[in-house]
Amino acid sequence: MDSRRDFLKNASLTSLAVGLGIPSEAAVNSGPDESIKFPKDFLFGVSTSAYQIEGGWNADGKGESIWDRWSHIPDNVKVLGDVACDHYRLYKQDIELLKRLNVNSYRFSISWTRIFPDGFGEANLKGVAFYKEILDLAKKHGVKPVVTLNHWDLPQKLQNIGGWANRELATHFSNYAKFCFSTFGNDVDFWGTHNEPWVVAFMGYFVGTHPPGIKDISTALLATHHLLLGHGMAVKAYRELNLKGKIGITLDYSYNIAETEKQEDLDAAKRLNDKHHPWFADPILLGKYPEMIWNWYKSKGIVMPEIKEGDMKIISTPIDYLGLNYYQTDKVKYNPDGWWPYETNTLKREYGKAKNFGMEPEGLYSILKDLDKRYHRIPIIITENGYNDDHDNVDFNGEVVDNKRIEYIFAHIKVCKKAIDDGVNLQGYTVWTLMDSYEWGDWSRLGLVHTDFHTLKRTIKKSGYWYAKGIKNGFSLGK
Ligand code: BGC
Repeated sequence: MDSRRDFLKNASLTSLAVGLGIPSEAAVNSGPDESIKFPKDFLFGVSTSAYQIEGGWNADGKGESIWDRWSHIPDNVKVLGDVACDHYRLYKQDIELLKRLNVNSYRFSISWTRIFPDGFGEANLKGVAFYKEILDLAKKHGVKPVVTLNHWDLPQKLQNIGGWANRELATHFSNYAKFCFSTFGNDVDFWGTHNEPWVVAFMGYFVGTHPPGIKDISTALLATHHLLLGHGMAVKAYRELNLKGKIGITLDYSYNIAETEKQEDLDAAKRLNDKHHPWFADPILLGKYPEMIWNWYKSKGIVMPEIKEGDMKIISTPIDYLGLNYYQTDKVKYNPDGWWPYETNTLKREYGKAKNFGMEPEGLYSILKDLDKRYHRIPIIITENGYNDDHDNVDFNGEVVDNKRIEYIFAHIKVCKKAIDDGVNLQGYTVWTLMDSYEWGDWSRLGLVHTDFHTLKRTIKKSGYWYAKGIKNGFSLGK
């Protein structure tokens, strides 16, 4: 990581080899076998997040986020996120990529500390200008912005007062949201409040492998409640502004199936599905926490968050869509000794998240059907789905031949079509991610565009050309 930083220090911006890769359109044969077509206004997009691509961690008045603080603590991460893909300087060519990928939507996140370095107070105009320009460029290319307000990079100053464990955070978040709504106005088609609040609350405050690195279940449950409250307050603020766009939230769901047919394993899988699935979605869409899980925590003697009068009403302010991040299905088994999560063990897989995901599109189908039923045909946008392959390389022809990613994406797109045909109100599909980028402590290769992590050169992969063509003509497995 040091050599990369030194390289960037010594290289002038113009000398960086940032040109796009050699087109490999020739490598994309059209496949007449099976061509799947979607409704005309269906969203096909790619997704990124600020901390994972922007870099410029302290540029132009940006404040310190919890991820900046965390990654600068020795041994917390393998790779620093200070520069990432240097999108803060290279954004123009990255937006050009969107055009070449033919996408009609682009999901990205705003870095809270670029707008409010301290989390609140005076706005940093240079930060505002950066996102305005991205929105303008997206518009110019006919790409609809899907903008997340919180993709994990909380201002450190707000962490110093307790982070999401402090109820005041809900107000700080909704003030920041309100500022963004009124500043960026109708230029944003879709707003997302939080990305994967489960990860924020549980990885940050219970498992402790994400900042702030706290390991206390009650604190994680408190963080849950304040994340939800902040979400609801932001949605309410949005409604009051009467803007044209839509607003929702993105939740993460992996599907769980039992390893055996034993009742205890089947029950364990159900418990896990009930944990991930309704813990955040029920309060938002049904106005209450799932009773089974609430009581389960209580039965363990855990101090539960205080729900003040009116909280659930705010949290359940109607949203326009539910964002769904799906990557994989897990096999699980009952484990009476492991109290969390819910007396269940997730079995070790040959691939782990952010390495090579499995290929289980059926899990996506089950989740879509469940959500559709439980939440009364809520419009759903798949805001993340993608495949990591650390072996993606630019070959001698200047191409990245990533057939496995094409197979993965195709299989999931097929499932989307089936779900729509079966009545699910699915309105969009988004690949994670635009380009290989920073993966919360390390690099990973989930992009439709290859990033050379030393030179930062971008090269569209075969899957990128394939996706572009599918959006235009319909998807088929002709690689
Ligand atoms: C997160 C992304 C992450 C992706 C791949 C999702 O949980 O929202 O930030 O890069 O998974 O691991």
